[in-house]
Amino acid sequence: MILFRQLFDDDTSTLTYILADPVTRDAIIIDPVHEQFDRDLAEICDMEVRLKYILETHVHADHITGGGRLREETGARFVAGVGSRLECADLLLADGDSLSFGNEVIHALATPGHTDGCTTYRWRDRLFTGDTLLIDACGRTDFQQGSAERLYNSLSRLFEFPAETLVFPGHDYNGRRVSTLSQEAGINPYWAGLTKAEFIEKLNALNLPKPRKIDVAVPANLRCGEAA
Ligand SMILES: [Fe+2]
Repeated sequence: MILFRQLFDDDTSTLTYILADPVTRDAIIIDPVHEQFDRDLAEICDMEVRLKYILETHVHADHITGGGRLREETGARFVAGVGSRLECADLLLADGDSLSFGNEVIHALATPGHTDGCTTYRWRDRLFTGDTLLIDACGRTDFQQGSAERLYNSLSRLFEFPAETLVFPGHDYNGRRVSTLSQEAGINPYWAGLTKAEFIEKLNALNLPKPRKIDVAVPANLRCGEAA
């Protein structure tokens, strides 16, 4: 048995995950949203678990992390990838590092490209991909140290995991919640059938509007979501 919850923030389409060891009741949360602090605390309480770590997949541009408030409230440690250079974090994980919560282990994979610090977390048969790999999409690479070439290399690494691996993304804008590596390898229009050069060309040609909250979210997230 495992304890696992997937939560969704309607305003920013952000997916948050809570994972826990049912025996020791140690838990982690991945990518909490500032405005959902009460919801997340209620979930943690309802699951009767103790929050040990708050994991960020990257420095988000579209929402402020709830990690700062959760750290303050629960004493959990704030964790991010070393490439994020987040000075406010308690722990920065390098590629291949792992963390334990109870008898469970979660592994960090450096997957830069959308941002320098993007980290995918692997737990059991699941990948928490943040904005590196989305369902039928991938992260944009036009701000925050974005690099389509680095993203391609990171995606190539993810696709080396077993085909049935579950993909739990950081966002979804189309009501979907989970995919598999085989499905994404087969039909993701940002991957399937594209050469590296075509992928880079496609990403660099995207002309997307700036995220609504970027000017507030990035500076706040560089403080782990805490007030200035
Ligand atoms: Fe992002």
